[in-house]
Amino acid sequence: MHIKLTTGKTLDISEGESLLQALKRHDLYLVASCGGKGICGKCRIRLIEGKSRIESTGKLEPREIDSGIVLACQTFPSEDIIIDIPKESRLVVGDIIEISRSRDLFELFKSLDTKISPLVRWISVDIPPPTIQNNIGDLERLKKAIEEKGLKGMRFSHGFLSSLAKSLRDADWKVNLAYTYGPEAIFISRHESKDRYGIAVDIGTTTIVVYLANIADGRVIDVGSTYNSQIRHGDDVITRIIYATEGEGLNELREAVVSDINNLLIPIVEKHDIKIGDIESVVISGNTTMSHIFWGFNPAYIREEPYIPTLNIFPLWRAGTAKLNINAQSPVYTVPCVASYIGGDIVAGVLASKMHKNSEIALFMDIGTNGEIVIGNNEWLVTAACSAGPCFEGSGIRHGMRATEGAVESIKINPQTFEPTLGVIGNDKPIGICGSGMIDAITEMFLTGVIDQKGRFIKGLNTDRIRESFEGPEFLFYSDDRTDIVLTEVDIENILRAKAAIYAGISLLLKKVSFTLDDIDRVYIAGGFGNYLNVDKAIIIGMLPDLPKEKFRFLGNTSVAGAYLCLLSDNMRKEAEEIAHKMTNIELSVSRRFMDEYMSALFLPHTDMRLFPTVEKLLKNRK
Ligand code: FES
Repeated sequence: MHIKLTTGKTLDISEGESLLQALKRHDLYLVASCGGKGICGKCRIRLIEGKSRIESTGKLEPREIDSGIVLACQTFPSEDIIIDIPKESRLVVGDIIEISRSRDLFELFKSLDTKISPLVRWISVDIPPPTIQNNIGDLERLKKAIEEKGLKGMRFSHGFLSSLAKSLRDADWKVNLAYTYGPEAIFISRHESKDRYGIAVDIGTTTIVVYLANIADGRVIDVGSTYNSQIRHGDDVITRIIYATEGEGLNELREAVVSDINNLLIPIVEKHDIKIGDIESVVISGNTTMSHIFWGFNPAYIREEPYIPTLNIFPLWRAGTAKLNINAQSPVYTVPCVASYIGGDIVAGVLASKMHKNSEIALFMDIGTNGEIVIGNNEWLVTAACSAGPCFEGSGIRHGMRATEGAVESIKINPQTFEPTLGVIGNDKPIGICGSGMIDAITEMFLTGVIDQKGRFIKGLNTDRIRESFEGPEFLFYSDDRTDIVLTEVDIENILRAKAAIYAGISLLLKKVSFTLDDIDRVYIAGGFGNYLNVDKAIIIGMLPDLPKEKFRFLGNTSVAGAYLCLLSDNMRKEAEEIAHKMTNIELSVSRRFMDEYMSALFLPHTDMRLFPTVEKLLKNRK
């Protein structure tokens, strides 16, 4: 059987295979937030001709069904078919994406007043060549020479020894030996190079960011980023864990992330005329699930009570083991994790924020695909993951999407006419709403009286933008001959749940350490969201605490910043390990008090208005 696309392409499909699986097999990826379970409603395609068995229509509206829209994951063709894939359903992965660069990382490193001490050290040795009289083996000869230089107890792996004989002779017995912790010999080079390279990698659930640095002087040479190709198999860590436990899932996920990193590196090294084999060290920072998948470990138990990962502190393994296309012997350091839902990305974040060095009490928030919070200072650190979910990246929201071309990112609603004005990324036709657009939408609808404190639509307003759909009431933000963009009451409920989880997490963590919001001196916001989050509006909806604006600092991608610091310095790696050791993880999902805090935070901005004095004042003035 065949699938014909309106673009002219024809693909084969097997009996019993879903459209989503068949398209995936041909490297055509659709947005599949729920991983093909028929729940998210994102894998919409239009059936133009041909018969199919349709198992479920999930979240599709009757008028969409009437116009031939089906869910690709729930559609099983029984004859040749013709389909059209709408732009909003296409998943673009593998492309290099523009992300805002983190702060000047070199400046950050210099501000720490620590010296450069990378993972790899070098020693030059002149080895007396063998003769008939002096005929000890190559390894014994090398050992003797380095011990004479005062370096004792060096270990040598099988991999190192397999190329030793040739390397020594090629270098005419004058060699530069690279070694790492242990000490352990890792490779031999003929030349002493001034330029030495390393990469710091942030493996996010949604994006992957690579910084190439000269580790001799600390300069950042270039940056590359792409969507994590694992999003083909679902948006959040839970969907990925489930996928990893099915058939070849773990290998597929692992290959996806490793080839993303390899593919990002190729154009960077070519541009700067660097040999990829000269990259001599790597630091990886990611949440616990991403770190497990990168190293090929089954993350299944991260999801099951009592939520135990295989490991939190990763040994120093080699690039060859990780299947990275650089020098196979290069060491790969993984920023330590704390628990199943507090990973190396958060440890790296705390390291980059420097909150663990100051006496002031800081609140660190990483709002990305999930939401993690750390509160503390140079004496103590408590942390929690608050299961906010990836709704601000579009998951679970009917017309939600990531902040890419075509996403509505800002909204204003006229308080008299209720007509919205939209700001769209790329100034293109809108195709969906991203996280900042959602926060704007809720704020505007709340302030103009379109929705009440519970996020319910107010009845009887003089506008036909509020209308009834099969899922209940919705607000129409945009309409053209092909698409309507709405926020439904169910979407609003999902956004309120996400923001309530974040606020409740902060509230409960503070109570656990007997502090109040007034004790917080500084709020650090990290993660993709951190780059374009409007603090005022995030306070109005009750996602961020109502604190003076000058207390908030945006740090961008602190996961890659922390990885970069670890790439350059022994002290930084030690500090990362101390942070991971010091952090007390509070498991919120089993806490009754978390449920109480969460229920109170489900309102706009909160049931207790005393916690949001500036919003209370704003609402009074409006009235
Ligand atoms: S509904 Fe098809 S992937 Fe989610």
